[in-house]
Amino acid sequence: MKTVKVAILGLGTVGSGVYKLIQKRADVMEKTIGAQMEVKKILVRNINKKREGVDASLLTDNWNDIIEDDEIQIVIEVMGGIESAKTMILEALRAGKNVVSANKDLIAEEGHVLLATAEEHHVDFLFEAAVAGAIPIIRPMKQCLAVNDISEVVGIVNGTTNYILTKMTEEGMDFSDALEKAQELGFAEADPTSDVEGLDAGRKVAIMASIAFHSRVVFPNVFTEGITKITAKDIEYAKEFDSVIKLLGVAHNTESGIEVGVYPMMIHKEHPLASVRDSFNAVFVHGDAADDAMFYGRGAGEFPTASAVMGDVIDVARNMAYGCNGRISCTCYKNLPVKDIGD
Ligand code: NAP
Ligand code: HSE
Repeated sequence: MKTVKVAILGLGTVGSGVYKLIQKRADVMEKTIGAQMEVKKILVRNINKKREGVDASLLTDNWNDIIEDDEIQIVIEVMGGIESAKTMILEALRAGKNVVSANKDLIAEEGHVLLATAEEHHVDFLFEAAVAGAIPIIRPMKQCLAVNDISEVVGIVNGTTNYILTKMTEEGMDFSDALEKAQELGFAEADPTSDVEGLDAGRKVAIMASIAFHSRVVFPNVFTEGITKITAKDIEYAKEFDSVIKLLGVAHNTESGIEVGVYPMMIHKEHPLASVRDSFNAVFVHGDAADDAMFYGRGAGEFPTASAVMGDVIDVARNMAYGCNGRISCTCYKNLPVKDIGD
């Protein structure tokens, strides 16, 4: 049986989940791709950190061990950050390696460059895990809903803030205690400012809007307001109106242009989004043919995110088996014009 060799960049919350799933689900690999999967190297910052259950000989802090290894066909980028991640992904794609990434910060700004590079080098660049954790949303919008004229994408796309708001609403927990718990559970970003100020949700909405509206919606143009100003009093006030407060990501494509933003909103408790609790996410998509479609699931955390990453990895491996890498994954927004929001 053939062996597909992969490298993982990062062994934090998501990287650990990916590593464990590759070890645990060897049967799935054999059934779905007819091959074994082997982790050949794992890039980390601190090679001396103790990492339970991981073969230490796989660890490296030297990118050359991966980029110069011709046997590695798939690079799984789950380390985060912009500059180093961008350099490594571009080098990997140019070297003919397929790349799977969960890095919404990078994709919301440079997705078009990465996709164009992947296409040029006939390799895949996939990023389902960058938006809404375990929920399939990129692929459904790109493929299953492709015939639709999508006019609206609205949802809860940040697990950390939804967890904080749920704890504040249901248990009267303090904002900072709830944030600390979200960090312990591995939902929050390395710098949780991007969660609580709405930037993380803004990046995810920019990615979804780009795909849904066949435009390149650039993140810096997305309006963002987070939840740091929400107090216990606001939560109580919402309850008086039979409502809850949720942080929503909203994208509309109307005749007057594209509008994309993130802001907290009071939602009546009967509304389906009101029942999206803890780290769960949900996304509504309205298309002219499909009408309303709703996607729901865990938006953050080790295994939910690793599940989405591995879906992409298996897709890449399947494409490798058919020799069609780079032919279908890169057609979303690489050549599309940049549209200013509100144009
Ligand atoms: P994390 O727990 O902070 O882990 C980051 C890992 O990457 C660590 O192992 C770290 O090494 C390594 N790393 C960071 N910078 C590096 C560099 N320059 N060179 C080599 N190794 C480096 O992060 P995470 O929560 O797993 O998130 C990873 C990525 O997935 C981010 O892009 C994040 O936005 C995205 N994401 C996360 C979630 C989630 O629920 N956590 C969900 C969806 C997407 P050390 O261990 O040595 O420090
Ligand atoms: N920090 C992010 C969140 C991780 O809380 O939703 C998932 O993208």
